[in-house]
Amino acid sequence: MTIFSKVINELRSSEIRDLMKLANKPGMILFSGGMPDNDLFPLDIMDSLYNHLTDAEKKVAMQYGPTSGIPELLASLELFLKKKGLPVGSNRLMITTGSLQAINILAKAFTDPGDTIITENPCFIGAISAFKSYQANIVSVPLLSDGIDIERLKDTLDHSPSNPRFIYLTPNFHNPAGTLYTADRKHEIATLLKGRNIPLIEDDVYSDLYFHNEDKPHLKTFKEINPDGIDVCYTGSFSKILGPGLRLGWMLVPEYIYNKCELIKQSFDACSPSFSQMLAHKFLQTQAVYPYISKVREEYAKRAMIMTEQLHHYLGDIVQFTIPRGGFYIWLKLPSNLDATTILEKAIAKGVVVVTGKTFDPHGVINNYIRLSYCNTSADKICKGIPLLAEAIRASL
Ligand SMILES: Cc1ncc(COP(=O)(O)O)c(C=O)c1O
Repeated sequence: MTIFSKVINELRSSEIRDLMKLANKPGMILFSGGMPDNDLFPLDIMDSLYNHLTDAEKKVAMQYGPTSGIPELLASLELFLKKKGLPVGSNRLMITTGSLQAINILAKAFTDPGDTIITENPCFIGAISAFKSYQANIVSVPLLSDGIDIERLKDTLDHSPSNPRFIYLTPNFHNPAGTLYTADRKHEIATLLKGRNIPLIEDDVYSDLYFHNEDKPHLKTFKEINPDGIDVCYTGSFSKILGPGLRLGWMLVPEYIYNKCELIKQSFDACSPSFSQMLAHKFLQTQAVYPYISKVREEYAKRAMIMTEQLHHYLGDIVQFTIPRGGFYIWLKLPSNLDATTILEKAIAKGVVVVTGKTFDPHGVINNYIRLSYCNTSADKICKGIPLLAEAIRASL
């Protein structure tokens, strides 16, 4: 009998996955997917970008490329990030195979088995899995409506028996909580981390998808704030602003961290797909990215508003949630005695799929929330699905 490693044996399948098998029936309304709507992909633009590639560019696209990324994309992405205010000149940029790979590489670079690391609670499930695969001891700090609980974070840092190896945060339109950290909270965190020798992994895949111009001051990233004495490792992605099928993300990190990460990436996959990189480069170089982001931002804002109205109408008296200001998600707090797995079971029976709260708890316990995505479901399906979800919740009261 083949013997598996301890770490793989500890990565458990869950009852959620079994429930999700039932969710694959045709006709289900999916509020579960954290991906863009297939109908929003810029297919015409991608056709045209490919058709206008020269033979020389097509050859680059078909070939292995440098580990850090093809020079064409590195140059156009630097410009894109510079426009966002990021300090590209004083950091190194690496193209990765999705931003999840960037998170994985950084976690591998910083963590030995048993090392303590800090996350928010709730936390992006992909990051939790990556950290567990390096056998990190995850200490989580509650996320509040304006960002991580600063008092609890201070307490955790002050009382940690060993210096945490890194802290991982998603300050702009958190997955699953939708939270946008306030500028004040970001500055408090920067002050708190200063001089502690704890790198900050800043996951920023949703910041382009803001719904209100007046939020722009709060969107300023830690990387842009460039706090003194903290190594900010910034990660981003094409997944939410173009298409996750390209599998392209990036990290922007101090040079000495970059050098270690390059070695790790060489062992993972040598380089990210050149074909995707060439298309992403053209998407940026031709400036097609800007009107496209505006278009999807508007569509997601509309869907978020419709879902919010529906939730207020059908469930307003019994659930709590924050109206989303960007990103993909609503994090719905169930009435206190309700368990999200029971709700999921009942919702699936009615034809609606959501994600249970405990999926995003690094310790797999807190389960009185559900995550609803509005990104991947049309307005009319949202209007059909929320009343069904409301029935499932009310039937459990
Ligand atoms: C917060 C967050 N970070 C990272 C990712 C990973 O994205 P990708 O690997 O597709 O770039 C996701 C995907 O859902 C996410 O929600």
